[in-house]
Amino acid sequence: MAVTIKSARELNLMREAGKILNYTLRTLEREIHPGMSTADIDRIGEETIRSFGCVPSFLHYNGYPASICVSVNDEVVHGIPDRHRILKEGDIVSLDAGVIYKGYHSDAARTVAVGTVSEEARQLIDVTRQSFFEGIKYARAGNHLNDICKAIASFAESHGYGVVRDLVGHGIGTHLHEDPEVPNFDMNRRGIRLRPGMTLAIEPMINMGTWEVEWLDDDWTVVTADGELSAHYENTVLITDGEPEIFTLNDSL
Ligand code: MF3
Ligand code: CO
Repeated sequence: MAVTIKSARELNLMREAGKILNYTLRTLEREIHPGMSTADIDRIGEETIRSFGCVPSFLHYNGYPASICVSVNDEVVHGIPDRHRILKEGDIVSLDAGVIYKGYHSDAARTVAVGTVSEEARQLIDVTRQSFFEGIKYARAGNHLNDICKAIASFAESHGYGVVRDLVGHGIGTHLHEDPEVPNFDMNRRGIRLRPGMTLAIEPMINMGTWEVEWLDDDWTVVTADGELSAHYENTVLITDGEPEIFTLNDSL
C-alpha cells in the first residue's frame, strides 16, 4: 500500500481523534493508583473514549480483547487488562490506546509511574519520552524516514538501553496501521522522503536491558527476554514543511 497524503478535511478529523485520545490518556494517568486492577484502567479508558461518541480502535483488532493495552514492568506492549492484575506502588505501567473519530484514527502511548518508583525506572520513562522528541526533530518535509529512526535509536542507546526491534511504528489514517513502517532503529537505508500531509505513529519501545523480547502464551503480551523493565511512548504526528504537529499532545479538550 502506498503512503498516503491526507487532505485538510482528513487532517481535521485526525486532529479531533488526537485530542480525544490525549484527553483519555491524561484521564488514565490521573486515575492510576496502587490497588486498582489493569481491567479498571481498561474500563475507565473505554468509557472516556465512548463518552465522545468515538470507538476504541484496539477492541477486537486482530482479536485483541480490550480497549486499552496495559503493560506492567517487564511487559513491553499489548498487555491484556485483567481484573486480577493489581497495580502496586513502584510499578511502571505502559498505556497504549487508539481512537476512531468519524473513520479516522489516532494512536498514542505513555508509560506512567504508580506512586513512587525507583530512580532507574524514572530515568527509563524519561529517556523513552525524550527519544521520541529526538526523533521528531527530523520529522519534517524533505528529510527521510531513517533520519527519525536513527535519532531515536542513538539517543536511547547512548543511555545503555535496548531498543525493541520486533515491533515498529507506522503510518496511520483511515486504518490504524498504514505504510510506512517506522522502526526505532537504523534501517541502513534512507527510507521514504517525508512530505507534508503524511501522518505517522512514532513509538519508541525501550528496554532497560536487552532489546530482545518474547511473547507470552496469550499470544499478545510482549515481554523483555531478560525480565528487565520496558517503557513505551507514542504519538500521532503530522509532517509539515515546518515543525511537525503532534495530534495526540493537543490539550485543548
Ligand atoms: N498501539 C499499537 C500499535 O501501534 C496497537 C495495539 S495492537 C492492538 O500498533 F491489537 F491492541 F490493537
Ligand atoms: Co502504534
